[in-house]
Amino acid sequence: MVCLCCYLPNICLQLLSASVLGFITSRFFDRGKRSQRFARLTVILVSTLTLVFTLFLIALSSAPGLRQAWFAKLCVTLSTPGPLDVSRCEVAGQAYGKVVELGPGPGTNFRCYEDAKIEQLTGIEPNEYFKAELMAEKAKQNLTFPVEQRWLRGEELDVEPGTFDSVVGTHVLCTVEDVVGVLSNVKKALKPGGTYLFMEHVAAEEGTWLRTAQKLVEPAFTIIANSCRFKNIEGILRREMIGWECDITAFDGPMPLPPFVPHIRGSCIKPK
Ligand SMILES: C[S@@+](CC[C@H](N)C(=O)[O-])C[C@H]1O[C@@H](n2cnc3c(N)ncnc32)[C@H](O)[C@@H]1O
Repeated sequence: MVCLCCYLPNICLQLLSASVLGFITSRFFDRGKRSQRFARLTVILVSTLTLVFTLFLIALSSAPGLRQAWFAKLCVTLSTPGPLDVSRCEVAGQAYGKVVELGPGPGTNFRCYEDAKIEQLTGIEPNEYFKAELMAEKAKQNLTFPVEQRWLRGEELDVEPGTFDSVVGTHVLCTVEDVVGVLSNVKKALKPGGTYLFMEHVAAEEGTWLRTAQKLVEPAFTIIANSCRFKNIEGILRREMIGWECDITAFDGPMPLPPFVPHIRGSCIKPK
């Protein structure tokens, strides 16, 4: 759920600051008649963009269906092959046997799966707008293993305990409301010796300029990206997966915008 009242005042404040900054900048260049017209046009443009963006955020926050449809389109657009695939496939390519994938979205990880290693895959996905893309991606990658889609959140994962060999989750825990609850379901679903494979974008270290940038963009980002937030996922994993053999690597994801660069990838193996 996106809490409109929590985020909107913050976003409006940021947008208002941007408008004021635009206004001051335009006054600074305010010399002569042509510059005055340019200054006025700049203010009108910034104000119009601010208004349109705010209305867009209000629409997304107040209409869950619209937010899900928008987010599915955004994910499909962003899930094209790219440099992050090296880390993605290093993680998802290890999946074997009976697999659960948390939040498969448009099937981004399907290009990493090895058909011969996977017996069956259960996708746990709350957003039904991904239905067509997921099956189309499976066909595109010539994958032959059966795929069962369950339209659920990871918090509601209700599989037979101790029956899965691998659980895969990439770029999913940022959107999950109850990360500890999902991890507890992952622990239950895996067989002894089974592996949780993950790659997530995470919160930067506190006190860094990157963390400040993340805090600044988070209010608008969480609405645009369907509740995604910057979290200390490595800290949560280290607390929750005690007794499991975890291998966690922090790395800089090749992302176009700096707030999304800090990443972790790795695996946690359930004790036998
Ligand atoms: C950013 S997309 C990532 C999709 C894909 N895993 C990838 O790596 O490209 C996040 C996905 O997690 C799903 N999701 C959001 N909340 C979830 C939850 N509570 N449990 C499981 N999946 C969730 C979203 O619907 C979406 O498909």
